[in-house]
Amino acid sequence: MTEFRVAVLPGDGIGPEVVREGVKVLRAAADRFRLTLTFHEFTVGGAAYERYGVPLRPEDLEAIKECQAVLLGAVGGPAWDDLPAAVRPEKALFTLRKELGLYANLRPVRAYPELASASSLRPEVTAGVDLLIVRELTGGLYFGEPRRRDPAPDGDGWVATDTLTYSTGEIRRIVRLAFTLAQGRRRQVTSVDKANVLESSRLWRETAREVAREFPEVALTHQLVDNTALQLARAPGQFDVLVTENLFGDILSDEAAAIAGSLGMLPSASLGGRTALYEPCHGSAPDIAGRGIANPLGAILSVALLLRHSVGHGEAARAVEEAVAQALASGARTADLARGGEKTVSTAEMGDLVAGAVGSRLKG
Ligand code: IPM
Ligand code: MN
Repeated sequence: MTEFRVAVLPGDGIGPEVVREGVKVLRAAADRFRLTLTFHEFTVGGAAYERYGVPLRPEDLEAIKECQAVLLGAVGGPAWDDLPAAVRPEKALFTLRKELGLYANLRPVRAYPELASASSLRPEVTAGVDLLIVRELTGGLYFGEPRRRDPAPDGDGWVATDTLTYSTGEIRRIVRLAFTLAQGRRRQVTSVDKANVLESSRLWRETAREVAREFPEVALTHQLVDNTALQLARAPGQFDVLVTENLFGDILSDEAAAIAGSLGMLPSASLGGRTALYEPCHGSAPDIAGRGIANPLGAILSVALLLRHSVGHGEAARAVEEAVAQALASGARTADLARGGEKTVSTAEMGDLVAGAVGSRLKG
């Protein structure tokens, strides 16, 4: 196999700790399946601001574009909360998403039976849940212009403006991807919007209906986002693929993490350009950073997505996912997953267990 370049972006907070375990597992998978991967590390986020004065250097962006896949930890933290938007750590993420053309963010949510008691939802509510949130990632309020502050006309403070825009083309490509993914699953798409209020949502709904005609074997349902928020907590088993705009997807995916038992379990894949980006859904968690207690499974499951979507090796991806299930079945729990008195493992121990399970079939 020709060289496959992976950019490694540890970032801030627990990012470096969880990415280290992701790379460990990726190396184990590469060994077992004889993949030739090379790793290229770059400093981004608050760490890059400290080192270079910017959250992402242009030359690093160019070098990242030469890689086929990016594995990112997390960016941000209280130290940089008061910086102007242009140099905040999060800006590195937005630049990567936009510059790499990553318009589609896939966030699969599974209820592992072993973790049923870790969820705040009742086991009979979460049992068997296997859903996929497809979040639009380069449009909506995150990127819409104008965004600014003007002095309030009444002299009292400011008027702040953010803009929510979507074009037909932007909606069509993300909804089409959701339908394509649904074809390989349970053939059900729920398009989430706020069409009773927002013009952009009415265009979203119309466009989703048009796209649905290309996929007669896939069922389309529309749901209002406030109702989806309720349904995710009430009866998440009804969902197969959800597709929605940027901010709705951001909020709903954190909510859906409650189904998995911890935000630390959720992986993501951002697709759309030549270079794809993989990162856990959780943030930099500065409160627990550096203590070796973070859950690396979101990062490790992101590695499985990298193997599936970028390397194109479904078998290696499944091996990683099975190794995660095996580690959980053996009783291994990081602090976020442990319930009352359960023994916990460290970030590195969890990584070792999964990497070991991936590698153990080498001889078999
Ligand atoms: C996410 C995160 C980011 C987002 C933050 C860190 C800017 O919450 O990837 O879900 O809002 O997109
Ligand atoms: Mn988020």
